[in-house]
Amino acid sequence: MKKILVTGGSGYIGSHTIVDLIQNGYDVVSIDNLSRSNPQIMERVEKITGKKIKHYQVDLCNYDETFAVFQENPDIAGIIHFAAYKAVGESVEKPLMYFENNLISLINLLKCVSEFKTPYFVFSSSCTVYGSPDSIPVTEETIPKPAESPYGYTKQMGEQILSETYKSLDGSAILLRYFNPAGAHPSGLIGELPIGRPQNLVPAITQTAIGKLPDMKVHGDDYDTRDGSCIRDYIHVCDLAHAHTLALNYLVDKRNLSHCEVFNLGTGEGITVLEAIKAFEKVSGRKLNYDIGPRRPGDVVAIYANNDKAKTFLGWEPKMKLEDMMRTAWQWELNVQKDEALFSNQPTDLN
Ligand code: WQD
Repeated sequence: MKKILVTGGSGYIGSHTIVDLIQNGYDVVSIDNLSRSNPQIMERVEKITGKKIKHYQVDLCNYDETFAVFQENPDIAGIIHFAAYKAVGESVEKPLMYFENNLISLINLLKCVSEFKTPYFVFSSSCTVYGSPDSIPVTEETIPKPAESPYGYTKQMGEQILSETYKSLDGSAILLRYFNPAGAHPSGLIGELPIGRPQNLVPAITQTAIGKLPDMKVHGDDYDTRDGSCIRDYIHVCDLAHAHTLALNYLVDKRNLSHCEVFNLGTGEGITVLEAIKAFEKVSGRKLNYDIGPRRPGDVVAIYANNDKAKTFLGWEPKMKLEDMMRTAWQWELNVQKDEALFSNQPTDLN
């Protein structure tokens, strides 16, 4: 049973990926400094999988502490690296904090990979590396544009660091470019836990619907799209999680064609903001309290994925539809409200 180190294991995508890895026969060790995630989540992951998970509350920016985790687990066969700050707006206000946290953590990990000859590395990247594409859907060959934020630059730089480093490192890496993750695990035990006011669309919808937010704004309906609102490719977090397991299998089975490969993870379908809201209203039976606000600076008008490469080479087939994303996101929001006491220690603002 190969042991996989998941960094950011208590986070939204990290926790769902640990569930998928375990259910597909991998052993998992998790690292998370819990600065932006909730310690309850790992207990929930253990409840879903029925497995105890070794968890290290370690900051990857501390090289010695990170090295010690590898020393204690010399049999780590692969790494899935999620741990990073990812609030676009915050990255504009605090660029140095983003460059330091997101890049130093990656470099420390790679120094350990080099020391311990860890063979496989899967990196959590983002469609944000494409910037505002000239044509859609975007393929992995679409030339990235200048990033729209320091956060986006940390993903572009992370990809460059990996592709250059893996030219000389033993082993192989995969860069997974996520489109817009949404939804929650069907058990209703884990899901997205935004810190402070949610920036992302789906948690903004569910928190407005449940009354945590008095209302929400649609950031512009005067774009050149079918209904005037922006287009995105929403991908269910469970489909996204499974893609990580398939990416590891691809490396373990030595099917990879080079030492560093890129894959888009999106459904290939573009959905407008207003269509997403309508889908939520349909599955929840609730009328959403929103109105049209001004455009949000930095927003891309439209982007969605060409996902043929992941389908062909990873054998990945996203199964969940927009309605599934909204239904599971809503169920999770209702559960968080019920367990408010449990999540009362949730950080309330970004540190
Ligand atoms: C989607 C659409 C908003 C909130 C971000 C990150 C990206 C990746 C995915 C990490 C946009 C609109 C939103 C609201 C709205 N994250 N919206 N009202 O900006 O596409 O991508 O998340 O990798 O890096 O940038 O996602 O959910 O913020 O916005 O109208 O209250 O919903 O304007 O058109 P985005 P988002």
